[in-house]
Amino acid sequence: MMASSPAATRRRIVGLGGTFRQASSSERIVRAILAECAALGAETIMFDGPALARLPHYNPEHPDRTPEEAALVEAMRGADGIVIGSPGYHGGYSGLVKNAIDLLEDLRPDARTYFDGRPVGLAVTAAGWQACGTTLSALRDVIHAMRGWPTPVGIAINSVEQRPFGPDGMIVDETVARAIRAQAEQIMRFTMMEAAA
Ligand SMILES: Cc1cc2nc3c(=O)[nH]c(=O)nc-3n(C[C@H](O)[C@H](O)[C@H](O)COP(=O)(O)O)c2cc1C
Repeated sequence: MMASSPAATRRRIVGLGGTFRQASSSERIVRAILAECAALGAETIMFDGPALARLPHYNPEHPDRTPEEAALVEAMRGADGIVIGSPGYHGGYSGLVKNAIDLLEDLRPDARTYFDGRPVGLAVTAAGWQACGTTLSALRDVIHAMRGWPTPVGIAINSVEQRPFGPDGMIVDETVARAIRAQAEQIMRFTMMEAAA
């Protein structure tokens, strides 16, 4: 277990993901990872499914930003670490998540281009193992393309076979809880190594 430190208190971790469903499993997993990061001293911000749904379709020829778009871009610009969660939809990540990621094209001209130098924790939930694997793998490719560092621990949960949530939405499966803690520790450790560098 990684100890919390004064440096950790300054880390900002931004989460993005989920669906319109009230009990969205992908949103719950992202929130659980953020909660572990917070327990290690981070400040966290979450953009859930309804928040992502308020973003217009990304249009490269429209540089004006709505307040919702600007909030996401600014949060990501200031992030030390990122968590992205998606359901597996037809073997890939959801359009809601992709639209939000496309908007982050605004980070391309930054000195710290896209996710440069930052850890990105990834989490997928799907009804079958095949989409768990393909969706996690596709998200890793996106993060590489955007110069981010996917954490070694990726989380893929089969929402039919594993059922990791209790009635209150909290994680009750210890294997899943361990993976969440491990990913959060990797995110926080990476942010501190980057700060030291
Ligand atoms: C439009 C749609 C497409 C889906 N496609 C797949 C799929 O290809 N493979 C799979 O295993 N599950 C698929 N699922 C199931 C979801 O991945 C699964 O229910 C997931 O846990 C939903 O995430 P959520 O709880 O955050 O809404 C699909 C669900 C929907 C609504």
